[in-house]
Amino acid sequence: MKNAFTRTTALLSTCALLLTACGGGSNTNTNANNSSNNTTNTATNTTATTGTLGAIPIGIAVAQTSNVALLGQEQVAGVKIAEKYFNDKGGINGTPIKLVFQDTAGDEAGTINAYQTLINKDKVVGIVGPTLSQQAFSANPVAERSKVPVIGPSNTANKIPEIGDYIARVSAPVSIVAPNSVKAALKQNPNIKKVAVFYAQNDAFSKSETEIFQKTVKDQGLELVTVQKFQTSDTDFQSQATNAINLKPDLVIISGLAADGGNLVRQLRELGYKGLIVGGNGLNTSNIFPVCKALCDGVLIAQAYSPEQPGEINAAFRKAYTDQYKKEPPQFSAQAFAAVQVYVEALQALDKKSKVSKLQLPQLRTELNKQLLTGKYNTPLGEIGFTPVGEVVQKEFYVAQIKMEKDGSQGKFAFIK
Ligand code: ALA
Repeated sequence: MKNAFTRTTALLSTCALLLTACGGGSNTNTNANNSSNNTTNTATNTTATTGTLGAIPIGIAVAQTSNVALLGQEQVAGVKIAEKYFNDKGGINGTPIKLVFQDTAGDEAGTINAYQTLINKDKVVGIVGPTLSQQAFSANPVAERSKVPVIGPSNTANKIPEIGDYIARVSAPVSIVAPNSVKAALKQNPNIKKVAVFYAQNDAFSKSETEIFQKTVKDQGLELVTVQKFQTSDTDFQSQATNAINLKPDLVIISGLAADGGNLVRQLRELGYKGLIVGGNGLNTSNIFPVCKALCDGVLIAQAYSPEQPGEINAAFRKAYTDQYKKEPPQFSAQAFAAVQVYVEALQALDKKSKVSKLQLPQLRTELNKQLLTGKYNTPLGEIGFTPVGEVVQKEFYVAQIKMEKDGSQGKFAFIK
């Protein structure tokens, strides 16, 4: 992470600050700005490989619009790098993959729409998505009923893989990741005693993560002085922040998403809170920098990816990302890359047993689902595998702290040793 100052775009800055902009209609699968959404369908609908393009379609259902695009945009970057990387290496034993994008926007209805299009019209072999656990709980049962594999690239609420046999994820759950940041806060300030917790009560992931944070607070022998609730659509946190500050906490822990989380951090600081802040997984993006600017400084966030992860594939991923975006790759991009990688390597393994171009689509989807759960994958996240239910098995986790330039114009995630 040396000298890796990030630049955020004016567009994202506008998105974050306006909160509702960026094409935020919930059911509009407009697919603007992606080049991969014109995949031709098979005329017969029987085999997975598309007749005209001769490529194997993998669906990408993440938030390309709405506030959730603050996270989804990083996922698009990750999957596009994966598509090029694996196709340059020969794809599925000579057959390329083709990513098919359907924008979920930020809600459940948009996600269900995107899934239905990918499953029924685009005839994908499997889906990477959605961005939010809140969306996964609604849309994944649709894929489950259609027997289409789903790999969650960022859903971290508890019980995502348990949604069904066809549901797996590469994003380690809150129960494993979240406690690390509280422990890092205690290392930085062993005098922490009183803790205030905030969470977004309309978001499944935030509710799941706060349970883990609150348990960790108790397990560490700390005093939970208040639990404050908000909505991911909120912009004004004055009353919750004031309530918490009046109780003089030494640590604040936030479970929310990027725009609301960034605004809450900013308002806590503006109201005079000086202690450490831990942000959850929904704040794990440099796209919060335009929201809280210099006041983002010091926020601790647990990580399921480090740009310094050794290994050839992370080196290639990191180089491709930094060449294009001039900053270190974020966790959301690395996990999205890993999700595509799982499909690619599972398809390669399956193809060696029985040619995927010869399989009927329903059989291919089912065989692919079985295959992917059995493999080991050497990804930018390190080596990962799956439990039989589809939960990711991953070894290494990290904590980073946001370091902002004094003027708030740029920042980076500095990894803590
Ligand atoms: N980790 C967040 C979720 O699961 C993005 O919703």
